[in-house]
Amino acid sequence: ENIQLDIRKATQFLNAGVVEGYESKVKEAQEALENATCPGNDFLGWLHLPSEITEEFLNSVQAVANTLREKCEVVVVAGIGGSYLGARAVIEALGNSFAWLVGDKKNPVILFAGNNIGEDYLAELTAYLKGKKFGVINISKSGTTTETALTFRLLKKQCEEQMGKEAAKDVIVAITDAHKGAARAAADKEGYKTFVIPDNVGGRFSVLTPVGLLPIAVAGFDIKALVSGAQDMEKATASDVAYADNISAQYAAVRQALYTQAGKKIEIIANYQPKLHFIAEWWKQLYGESEGKDHKGIFPAACDFTTDLHSMGQWIQDGERTIFETVISIEEPNNKVLFPHDDENLDGLNFLEGKRVDEVNKMAELGTKLAHVDGGVPNIRISMPKLNEYYIGQLIYFFEKACGISGLLEEVNPFNQPGVEAYKKNMFALLNKPGYEADSKAIQERLAK
Ligand code: PA5
Repeated sequence: ENIQLDIRKATQFLNAGVVEGYESKVKEAQEALENATCPGNDFLGWLHLPSEITEEFLNSVQAVANTLREKCEVVVVAGIGGSYLGARAVIEALGNSFAWLVGDKKNPVILFAGNNIGEDYLAELTAYLKGKKFGVINISKSGTTTETALTFRLLKKQCEEQMGKEAAKDVIVAITDAHKGAARAAADKEGYKTFVIPDNVGGRFSVLTPVGLLPIAVAGFDIKALVSGAQDMEKATASDVAYADNISAQYAAVRQALYTQAGKKIEIIANYQPKLHFIAEWWKQLYGESEGKDHKGIFPAACDFTTDLHSMGQWIQDGERTIFETVISIEEPNNKVLFPHDDENLDGLNFLEGKRVDEVNKMAELGTKLAHVDGGVPNIRISMPKLNEYYIGQLIYFFEKACGISGLLEEVNPFNQPGVEAYKKNMFALLNKPGYEADSKAIQERLAK
């Protein structure tokens, strides 16, 4: 059984046959990906990554994960953007929502850092780690990202002070380029265990490399099942699969059709399970960085439902009609909670007695879909049979493949991100980084005007 895609409540906003009409363009995009003739063709390592992953490689990741699990009560994953969001998305989707409170002795607490420059965040993190047996997974492809490097410098120092330099080497792991960057230099000098991020896999497509796999394994989740889900989805979305049956092709086509032909400029990814919040954050980066360029691109937004129906619901129902909605729905939750009887029935909810909470949730989802469609919001539905490693693996590859196709349909290079450099250049100029002297002078003059 695979995850399913339902686009019927989206195609009703398009002229008949529009999605079918994309078939030849989608085929061209698929061929360009397969033959590596598309823009960004040096970043296609993700395309057949699942089927190229060997059991031996997964065992080597698991072995390092096991060492961290044995030696650490807390593991801090330092990374940002593509070196962060995939791991967090999978760990939060699969983990107990109250993991850090329930004192789960089987698994280390996983914390994320290096993804912001909040001084309070770092002060509170280092205070929490004081006296604790903690390890660090330092993830940076370039090995020079400021947020991550700054955090790693603090954590390395603290880890060495608390455990001693020798013992720290067993609990610090670097995931970075094979040769370049400060993270590589530090790892080689100190003798840390390392994993390589392949050159041809961009950050936002790297969750199935050690970037995602190591933290996920440390958290106690089954990386073999995750990869197996991705492998099955690689087959299910291959270019020889009929267009109408290929869910990545269909998703790519319908979103581009909504964008170009129905004026839908914003896609809201919505979930009805708070655990999926970071799946949406990962998806936002995947689509935002891949498609938002050349002054084009669907704006990727996210809402957690029903929570945000009480905040963003008004806008979605009645605001500017430039949005469409993609809902990720989990068919069967992992737990069962029945609505209890109450003799007094003061809340008037005895009509729900004996029902599963999920039944109420599903009716909220259906009611919302009908209301939003009536309000002019096309609805795409992705359903996952269960929330587990296997189906999350499927979901990851489904979105990656669709993203590659969709970016090519939009006629951009989906695999670069030149726009993210602009803020860094200004920040370095403002901080007088060596090598930025001319930029520093220019920015100071600009600010003085
Ligand atoms: O997708 C991307 O390329 C970015 O989000 C990067 O992953 C992010 O900036 C982190 O870069 P690095 O891994 O080089 O530290």
